[in-house]
Amino acid sequence: MALIPGLDAIAYGGDYNPEQWPEQVWKEDVELMREAGVNLVSVGVFAWSMLEPSPGRYDFGWLDRNLDLLHRAGIAVDLATPTAAPPPWFLHRHPDAAPVTHDGTRLGGAARQSFCPSSPAYARAAAGITEQLARRYAGHPAVVLWHAHNEYGQANATCWCPVSAAAFRDWLRGRYRDLDALNAAWGTAFWSQRYGDWAEIQPPVLAPTAVNPAQQLDYARFSSDAHLANFRRERDLLHRLAPGVPVTTNFMLANCKNIDYWRWAGEVDLVANDHYLQAERADNHIELALCADLTRSVAGGRPWLLMEHSTSAVSWQPRNVAKEPGELRRNSVAHLARGADGVMFFQWRASRSGAEKFHSAMLPHGGTGTRIWREVVELGAELGRLGVLRGTTVTADVALLWDWESWWGLELDWRPSRELAFRERQEAFYEALWRDHRTVDFVHPEAPLASYPLVVAPASYLLTATAAEHLHRYVDGGGTLLVSYFSGIVDEHDAVHPGGHPGALRDLLGLTVDEFLPLPAGARVRLDDGRTGDVWSERLVLRGAQALADYADGPAAGQPAITRHSSGRGRAYYVSTRLTGADLAALTGTAAREAGLPAPVDLPDTMELVRRRGDAGTFLIAVNHGDTDATVPGSGVELISGAPVAGGFRVSAGGVRVLHES
Ligand code: GAL
Repeated sequence: MALIPGLDAIAYGGDYNPEQWPEQVWKEDVELMREAGVNLVSVGVFAWSMLEPSPGRYDFGWLDRNLDLLHRAGIAVDLATPTAAPPPWFLHRHPDAAPVTHDGTRLGGAARQSFCPSSPAYARAAAGITEQLARRYAGHPAVVLWHAHNEYGQANATCWCPVSAAAFRDWLRGRYRDLDALNAAWGTAFWSQRYGDWAEIQPPVLAPTAVNPAQQLDYARFSSDAHLANFRRERDLLHRLAPGVPVTTNFMLANCKNIDYWRWAGEVDLVANDHYLQAERADNHIELALCADLTRSVAGGRPWLLMEHSTSAVSWQPRNVAKEPGELRRNSVAHLARGADGVMFFQWRASRSGAEKFHSAMLPHGGTGTRIWREVVELGAELGRLGVLRGTTVTADVALLWDWESWWGLELDWRPSRELAFRERQEAFYEALWRDHRTVDFVHPEAPLASYPLVVAPASYLLTATAAEHLHRYVDGGGTLLVSYFSGIVDEHDAVHPGGHPGALRDLLGLTVDEFLPLPAGARVRLDDGRTGDVWSERLVLRGAQALADYADGPAAGQPAITRHSSGRGRAYYVSTRLTGADLAALTGTAAREAGLPAPVDLPDTMELVRRRGDAGTFLIAVNHGDTDATVPGSGVELISGAPVAGGFRVSAGGVRVLHES
């Protein structure tokens, strides 16, 4: 099944903002798009004030002409609703729809995303322009995809205004029905917070000291849902008025903490993601792989669309380091390897004005004489040769539990150590597996696990009783589970699971934590097998588990540090300190072996290897992030060069190869 029914190639293109340019430029745009092999552009993402210059007065002439021009050139359109950037007239008329920050500051409008997600005035205005666009462009032959809004929650994830407060109370009434249930869930007996009337409840705004954590968790849920309601409103209008064309929006996996994308996964017709490298990080290609795997996982394993990445530097990091020659191609093919069926950029032509004029583009300020342009044209030609990958899927053998609620909970105030960090642990375990060439799916803790020989639970602080039972069944059925410290501690209301830590996982792990022993900044503990940990340690009492390594020093000297417990037909590992690098890799390696995974392939850990499979066979995608050439075993046909391969193929330093395996 094609990702986008109206498009019969790997999608290639980017955000196209014709409203920023005189119409004479459009002709050149389209000619150059064809030269680069562009087949899909996202149009109108921030064009609201050009489409509706004053409330209820519309100007669609320019968009009509632009879409017709694109269509004549054979370029398909992903038409956006422009609702991420309300025009100046909107806040002028509705000043109380401007977002308010945590400390009560009302924000201005001379930017984008300046609206409160719960504002009824915003909802009306956004529905108005969405309806006009849907009616006008329903059936337009160029439009193959709808792009609702842009990056929900990117700059206005959480609003703290009185309108949001009222919406929060409504949301709470829906969740708890009566105040007694809310008081119990929030533990309001603590610090005299018992509510006697719904009207007394406020958002968890800045207060003299630590704010009720359960209230903060619910505010995070409410805020994610407020954006989801805005998406649903637009999607439903588009489905009704312009049927037959899929509707999506661009996610920000895994860098957006504020949106619970598991709740959004089933709401979009296809999953699209934006990814930007953290330019100064040496291992940013591993972070890219993590985000791509998380995107595929949210897409339920189906192909997805890379809606935005950059051809080179971005414009919003402290130092906007440019990509090296060849990096744009490696990044693009790495996304493709992990299930993307399209590679798009922000943006087509670099802007002359505005906040993002120093952001790279497909067509730089310097035009077609530039390195970036040459690489963009080459990539377009290569993607044209990889069309056979479309619709194929990736099979993972390891699952990492990922839960936005756990992320929110773990990083609230007054945890036993400020160095408990969700992303850090996810990335550490992911990296260990990546370096062993393992392919990873991310799963919600309550999602099916039976197909994974190995499940890893990094930083799973918040775990519901249902999730814990589910993990227990997985292990008893023969699975291998690896759990990191400070997991299974609280339920969905941030209330401690009773009976001693880690309450939700105690029986499964065969131990209790007698005491948390967080380490001072910079301190390290040695284990008796030579490994060292930092940040955290615990005094464990084994109740059936067996120690694999003990602490050699530190506050738990002589006590177990890493354990293994047999349960049913499976086993559960536990690590009670923060291991990194090779020390952590040794542990994931042990668990992988016991899970029955094949030994890691004997290739440098800078060689990224992923397989996609489909009716046409299997495809081995190799991306060499190292600085020496390497040979990957395999036979078949290399698709970029068209060359036959017998026994092995060379991937040059910094290069990419795609083998159609025979
Ligand atoms: C994205 C956004 C784009 C552009 C880009 C720059 O977050 O969707 O519109 O601003 O960042 O990197």
